[in-house]
Amino acid sequence: WPAYAPYIKAINDLKRQRNAVILAHNYMTPEIFHGVADIVGDSLQLAKEAATSQADVIVQCGVHFMAETSKILNPDKTILMPDMAAGCSLAQSITGADVRALRQKHPGVPIVTYVNTSADVKAECDICCTSSNAVEVVESLGAPRVLLVPDKYLAANVALRTTVEILTWEGACVVHQRFTGAEMREYRNSVPGVKIIAHPECPTDVTAEADYTGSTAGMINWLKENSPKKALLVTECSMADNVASQAPGVDFVRPCNLCPYMKMITLPKILESLVHMRAEVTVDPAIAARARTAVERMISLKS
Ligand code: 13P
Ligand code: SF4
Repeated sequence: WPAYAPYIKAINDLKRQRNAVILAHNYMTPEIFHGVADIVGDSLQLAKEAATSQADVIVQCGVHFMAETSKILNPDKTILMPDMAAGCSLAQSITGADVRALRQKHPGVPIVTYVNTSADVKAECDICCTSSNAVEVVESLGAPRVLLVPDKYLAANVALRTTVEILTWEGACVVHQRFTGAEMREYRNSVPGVKIIAHPECPTDVTAEADYTGSTAGMINWLKENSPKKALLVTECSMADNVASQAPGVDFVRPCNLCPYMKMITLPKILESLVHMRAEVTVDPAIAARARTAVERMISLKS
């Protein structure tokens, strides 16, 4: 990548000078994922890494809620976001006030929030979950009924795998809600032998057609363990690009959908962020303390 090389070198030099680490989500572009990231992973892996990091500075290459989670777990560290506008349609779909109203409407029903939410929302919930532990988190509460917000599709996929009654919210991911079951069946017919690997933010008619459904890290593990000849990753486009080197021999069939928020993070913005030490992510300490309880409760579950 000749055009990227000067950026990669400058970023890696500055990281050492600043005692900084780069936490990058699996949806980052390959030059970020392979060129400058210290830790890559799904939301749960990144949250766990943030909780144990020895660095003074964390540069969060992902979306805003991920940087907030790092700040919640590290109130004394500097958390930088290369582009503050990198949001998430799920995080934008619900507010702390909405959760308070839900609690009034459903007294006594525990509330689980997907990690793809603002600190404000986490502060109002009982426990967090990610796509890799949602069923386990729901069942850990020992309640017959649980509110799982804000992703209606994650909730529907969890409901299929538990006897706990799941109530939810009207949120959806702009990337995963666009896939359809009919599209999956067309791929099955036109690409013989293809393995379909879906994210649980997809509608249930999509996951019904999948050979495996799981978090982005779960998808990578499944590919490594099963080495299919052809695979369709029903998720964000950078996944297949990044996994290609870890799963040689797999022919990745498109389609994929781009996440407009994840794609706001670029090498030049990461460099600028480290040069000027901005933009710093802050969370109101009172909100952070309450949100931390929900995140730490999740992390303390073994998985
Ligand atoms: P994962 O936790 O599976 O990486 O999902 C995060 C995300 O934003 C998926 O759209
Ligand atoms: Fe949010 Fe969907 Fe983008 Fe993930 S892929 S950050 S859930 S909009």
